[in-house]
Amino acid sequence: MSHGNTGAVVAATAPAKINLSLGVGPNRSDGFHTLATVYQAIGLYDRVTVRPADETTVAVTATEGRVPVHDVPLDATNIAVRAARLLAEHHGFERDVEITIDKGIPVAGGMAGGSADAAATLLACDQLWGLDSAREDLLLVAAELGSDVPFALLGGTAIGTGRGETVTPLMTRGKYWWVVLESPRGLSTPEVYRTFDDLSGGEVGDPAIPDALMLALRGADVEALGASLTNDLQPAALRLRPELGAALEQGLEESALGAIVSGSGPSCLFLCQSRSHALHVATALRACDLGPVSSAPGPVHGARVVAAEGTA
Ligand code: C5P
Repeated sequence: MSHGNTGAVVAATAPAKINLSLGVGPNRSDGFHTLATVYQAIGLYDRVTVRPADETTVAVTATEGRVPVHDVPLDATNIAVRAARLLAEHHGFERDVEITIDKGIPVAGGMAGGSADAAATLLACDQLWGLDSAREDLLLVAAELGSDVPFALLGGTAIGTGRGETVTPLMTRGKYWWVVLESPRGLSTPEVYRTFDDLSGGEVGDPAIPDALMLALRGADVEALGASLTNDLQPAALRLRPELGAALEQGLEESALGAIVSGSGPSCLFLCQSRSHALHVATALRACDLGPVSSAPGPVHGARVVAAEGTA
């Protein structure tokens, strides 16, 4: 169906997520694992632009050509396409959009880039279609799209429970700097979870958030935060990509305060003291030629509309 002001265009951005702690519990009957996690949004962004169209399409480009995007599907399985369709369906209509995604977040890197695209698409279409959805409504649609999508809307620092989709904001005052080391090849999230199941033999207790991590966040204590980063998926990611172990070691040798695999991997994160410390660690890691390296502050805000023309 052709619809709306054909000259209209809306752009929204959404940030990458990292998990300061990722506690993984039992595999539930629906195939998802129970999680207890602390999310943080960091300053790497995908930008999604939507325009009215006669059929829904999606195109993907990479910021400065840095992130390889060939693994992103360009059909109806693309999570941004699913987000646009689900939002329209939620409001009881069908409408097509041309979607362009400019990726600044590693693809299949354990940093929820697909979830960021979904969150940005929800916000952009909401404005393009003049829906003015309540936040709670968008969070519900987001949860249907993926475990990390509600957090991509929210941003900041937050606790995630359930399968990760139930988010509770944490009021923290610290500002942190992260160095991100990407891998040339992504990892499949379901495969990492399957490897977690194999390694644990199905014997896992309920997940919890470490007290030390909460204390570190409350005190904005960057050294204590570095010492309390945890990721239950890390052994599974290292099983699938043993070379990540050496990358984590390298970052610590180069003076990072903490080093951890991001989510299901394979991106690695290095916590730093300050922006200049992050630049120093990033330069040292770049010289090791392990993969693309960037640095980003956290926490940052969640998905936001950044440009709109011709909308109501
Ligand atoms: O929710 P999302 O689409 O991001 O999940 C991708 C896959 O990751 C799921 O199909 C599942 O295999 C795995 N997963 C899981 N437990 C979670 C979140 C994701 O097993 N809490």
